[in-house]
Amino acid sequence: MEQQAKICAQNGEGETHMVNLSSDTVTEPSKAMKEAMMSAPLGDDVFGEDPTVNALQEKVAELLGKEAALFVPTGTMGNLICVLNHCRTRGSEVLVGDLSHIHIWEQGGVSQLGGVHPRTLRNLPDGTFSLTELRQLVRGVDDHWPTTALVCVENTQNMVGGRVLPLAWLDELGVLCRELELPLHMDGARLFNAAAALGVPPSRIVKDCASVSICLSKGLGAPVGSVIVGSKDFIKNARRLRKALGGGMRQVGVLAAAGIYALDHVGPTLTRDHAYIQEVARAVVECKSEIIKCDPASAHTNILLLECDPEALPPSHLCERMDQVTDEEVAAIGERVVARILPITDTAVRMVVHCDITHEDIQSVINKLKYVIKEFDGKA
Ligand SMILES: Cc1ncc(COP(=O)(O)O)c(C=O)c1O
Repeated sequence: MEQQAKICAQNGEGETHMVNLSSDTVTEPSKAMKEAMMSAPLGDDVFGEDPTVNALQEKVAELLGKEAALFVPTGTMGNLICVLNHCRTRGSEVLVGDLSHIHIWEQGGVSQLGGVHPRTLRNLPDGTFSLTELRQLVRGVDDHWPTTALVCVENTQNMVGGRVLPLAWLDELGVLCRELELPLHMDGARLFNAAAALGVPPSRIVKDCASVSICLSKGLGAPVGSVIVGSKDFIKNARRLRKALGGGMRQVGVLAAAGIYALDHVGPTLTRDHAYIQEVARAVVECKSEIIKCDPASAHTNILLLECDPEALPPSHLCERMDQVTDEEVAAIGERVVARILPITDTAVRMVVHCDITHEDIQSVINKLKYVIKEFDGKA
């Protein structure tokens, strides 16, 4: 596998080993993925005539156990199309987790562009929400109120550290949604990570979902693209919505080919990414730091949250320090390592492993992190 996310920059003081753990969106296509893109048969997908897009759509529909699928440019557009598709009546309300990507990171697109009213359920630390709260928040019939039209979940849940929603909870949620006659949408940007962690097919996880949006450009390592799935009728109307949103693309099999390659060749390696995260998590725990902590048991997949004591260490300071190299550190750990990680909340830093990361990268990050943690502990 090519190592393009890792840049070995030359500077006056020697080679710097740069490891980019800021997101799983930073991967670059491998040589083999590019070859698959270059040799893909193409056609005009707005007319439904791109054989590679059609093959990708059939493949994802089958993997997720749904009737039909649609290739869309991004996860944001995938979620938006699905929400708009479920909420066709004005005054519709969607129930979403307060930590969900749809609620926090998609610019309120469902209300901005679709006139859909969001109502939040409090996400619990494991990424679920209370089903009692869900039942309470469903609107009755009253001319003053919007109409509850949809429930959304996110799996894995990014903001709680890539946690996998428990299957038993999803099953209960499915039963409740059927009882309440509400469709369930899953933002499955990292659904394949969830499936790899649970050791079950993705279709098992989404069996009660009326729609799902998956990203090819996250853990799966493709440069672009998402796929939404649902019933034939749902996808027929999703196609119209995609066109209205400017997402109708032409000879886009060139990108769909990367998606097929990613599903076939990167998908089976996701457990390796999860194992790397565990190695980092165990190393942090071994440091026994009072100011930088993590919980390996809650790091289910390719994301690790480092919890910082905000009084002693704002998360941005840890990220800035991991971006710098000192002579003392090089003398101690034997190399110049820069690890890119991101502050994600007022108390947490997020690191994400992806297919461009090697075991050597992980070992270098562990050495650096142990050194930096000791340094901060010494100052505390
Ligand atoms: C959980 C989740 N859903 C949706 C998205 C949106 O994907 P995109 O960046 O392709 O719009 C992301 C992006 O990071 C995400 O993490």
